[in-house]
Amino acid sequence: MRTTLKDAIKLIHFTVRGDERGNLIALENQSAEIPFDVKRVYYIYGTQAGVTRGQHAHYALKQVLTCVSGSCDILLDDGAERKTIRLDNPAKGLLIDGFIWREMSHFSPDCVLLVLASEHYDEADYVRDYQRFLTEATR
Ligand code: TYD
Repeated sequence: MRTTLKDAIKLIHFTVRGDERGNLIALENQSAEIPFDVKRVYYIYGTQAGVTRGQHAHYALKQVLTCVSGSCDILLDDGAERKTIRLDNPAKGLLIDGFIWREMSHFSPDCVLLVLASEHYDEADYVRDYQRFLTEATR
């Protein structure tokens, strides 16, 4: 089960198709930007000040996260190392592909965090207990 942040996390710079009208970003299945088939899309917005979300790991799920508006912090933890990535630009994506604990915080009031996911929602794929995560991550 051991996964390292180095192997499981990738920052992706989406191609921006900008012109005098403004910007457009297109994300496609099985592309350099989204290296899986998207089965689910969800977005988090209107997050109250001081809230931390997430606080879980997934066994099988792959996700690409991006702030299409505003900003937030994504804390990532492989059981041995922690790192925080700030998503603050709609052209910046974060791929998480591995057994990584994640927490989202410091949402700006205008934050819309868009998540593209490789699987349908499945509570059985979640580890929500940090001690259990540590046990499984360092096994
Ligand atoms: P939750 O897991 O608390 O979200 P986060 O990890 O971002 O803090 O999810 C909140 C509720 O929404 C919970 O009842 C589960 C449900 N949910 C779905 O039904 N489908 C989904 O794709 C997600 C992410 C959550």
